[in-house]
Amino acid sequence: MSDSLQTLTDEALHALEQCADDDSLQAWKVKYLGQKGVVRDLMNKIASLPVEERKPYGLAVNGFKEALSHAYEARLQALQDAKLARDLEEGALDITMPGRPRQVGGLHPSTQTLRQIYAIWADMGFQVYKSRDVEDDDTNFTLLNIPPHHPARDMQDTFYTTEPNIILRTHTSPGQIRAMRDLGQGGTQPIRVILPGMCYRYEQITPRSEVQFHQVEGLVIGRNIRMSDLKGTITAFARRMFGEQAAVRFRASYFPFTEPSMEIDVECFLCDGQGCRICKHSGWLEIAGSGMVHPTVLRNGGYDPTQWSGFAFGMGPERMTILKHGIEDIRYFWANDIRFLEQF
Ligand code: PHE
Repeated sequence: MSDSLQTLTDEALHALEQCADDDSLQAWKVKYLGQKGVVRDLMNKIASLPVEERKPYGLAVNGFKEALSHAYEARLQALQDAKLARDLEEGALDITMPGRPRQVGGLHPSTQTLRQIYAIWADMGFQVYKSRDVEDDDTNFTLLNIPPHHPARDMQDTFYTTEPNIILRTHTSPGQIRAMRDLGQGGTQPIRVILPGMCYRYEQITPRSEVQFHQVEGLVIGRNIRMSDLKGTITAFARRMFGEQAAVRFRASYFPFTEPSMEIDVECFLCDGQGCRICKHSGWLEIAGSGMVHPTVLRNGGYDPTQWSGFAFGMGPERMTILKHGIEDIRYFWANDIRFLEQF
């Protein structure tokens, strides 16, 4: 038996040596190692043997199969090497050709702006507090001094869920309540955090408004925190963000959760305040809403408003990115168009 196996092995290896291209190599593989090949045939015979012969026979056939498989792999490699050598020689492979550039990913423009904002606030001692995207109506509105039916609810059209009172946050301000309750230890600890995140509003999508956008909320709670602290802190931020010479302007405004409230403008850095298309010829760009935390909100956060005070702000990183790069249409941000994203 082993004699005839030896002959078979010699035959097979000899045939393999004759294979000089892919086709003949494949044909050889089918003939010897295929589903209906020689090896399989030999394996099938095992059942017809007397029991005591089966084991040695099986071992021998396995050895045969191993030898053929190894020889096949070696032959395949040798043929490939030979082809490569031939191609090189004949110049079919131009090794002086420049390589294809590899596509590398980049950071989304919003992410870039967010990281810049985090870094500046971190330098001023603000920690990042992540609040939730899915909020309850109370925290998003009522605890922020916006009771049901308050007209201010119309300022922000809300995405409701099928769960009663569960909504997508329309701004990052509900994080103020969560941060105060979570970090304040019953209104006894000062707080200095930023609360970045995505906000959602049920709005018509236009070049100027989207249903989702980032905000970076800021919250400072302490004793004797005053409006001058708010103004100084924001001014320091604007200088870091937009340049040493950036002028900042505070405009009286209204938010239910701050009193007094102010809109924050920076001098348009695209036209140096001369007036241009981006700043709508006013010379100023609005970057944030802000104000002194309303006593009711302090109380809802667990603080005694006769002992504690604070300021808050909410800035829009997409707006800043738009201004920085002169982006004409806010819809580009979440459209996932690679031609837009590649530019940053
Ligand atoms: N939440 C306000 C908005 O979405 C911005 C704001 C935040 C205003 C904090 C004052 C204080 O427009």
